[in-house]
Amino acid sequence: MGKDVIIACDFDSKEKTLAFLDKFTGRKPYVKIGMELFYAAGPEIVREIKARGHQIFLDLKLHDIPNTVKKAMAVLSGLDVDMCNLHASGTVPMMKAALEGLTRPDGTRPLLIAVTQLTSTDQETMERDLLIKEPIDRVVMHYAENAKQAGLDGVVCSPLEAEKVHSVCGKEFLTVTPGVRFADGDVGDQKRVMTPAEANRIGSDYIVVGRPITTAADPVEAYERCVRDFVS
Ligand code: C5P
Repeated sequence: MGKDVIIACDFDSKEKTLAFLDKFTGRKPYVKIGMELFYAAGPEIVREIKARGHQIFLDLKLHDIPNTVKKAMAVLSGLDVDMCNLHASGTVPMMKAALEGLTRPDGTRPLLIAVTQLTSTDQETMERDLLIKEPIDRVVMHYAENAKQAGLDGVVCSPLEAEKVHSVCGKEFLTVTPGVRFADGDVGDQKRVMTPAEANRIGSDYIVVGRPITTAADPVEAYERCVRDFVS
């Protein structure tokens, strides 16, 4: 399992997505398909991008009763994605059921990653809306430990949490980190950011990068820059 840069293809149509990927002649970046694109373009967009030779992280963040998640994961696994995810707050039985659903008859399966607390949730919101009174950092680590106990491969987390997740759950437990920006780039709505080089130093396994690549004047150059800074 190598370190890699995953491009968040947050587009609202198949046409825009494929036109974007067409720019990468001779390169097959790892692609993240999120809710917007999946709900707009359906499973067909997954098949099409996969057929073009890209690896796919399907970011649908499942959360439901264990049986429903298990059945849904079996469908996603059949789409031959490489990584998918769910909410750790769905509890350990839900995560275990998800793994069962994801595992193909030949024993292979996509990587399964848990979302801990969304980075849009802060301490105050968590206490007020969810009635969780523990420090958010402790909640994130507890969810990461639950994911590990359930047999998952890692978590989506802020790059600022990646080092601690590795120290609590071990170096092999994957950290997939959004919130990445170039030092000379726009931060946009992300609150806590790191550069690709910093994310590399603190041990992120995968960085998820959207707008710094998708809205760049030269997306291919921006992607290559991310790869140079993060992977090498
Ligand atoms: O454009 P940008 O680089 O901010 O995109 C980051 C991607 O990672 C988006 O698809 C966003 O939904 C996703 N993400 C995030 N923060 C999380 C979980 C997912 O930014 N905590």
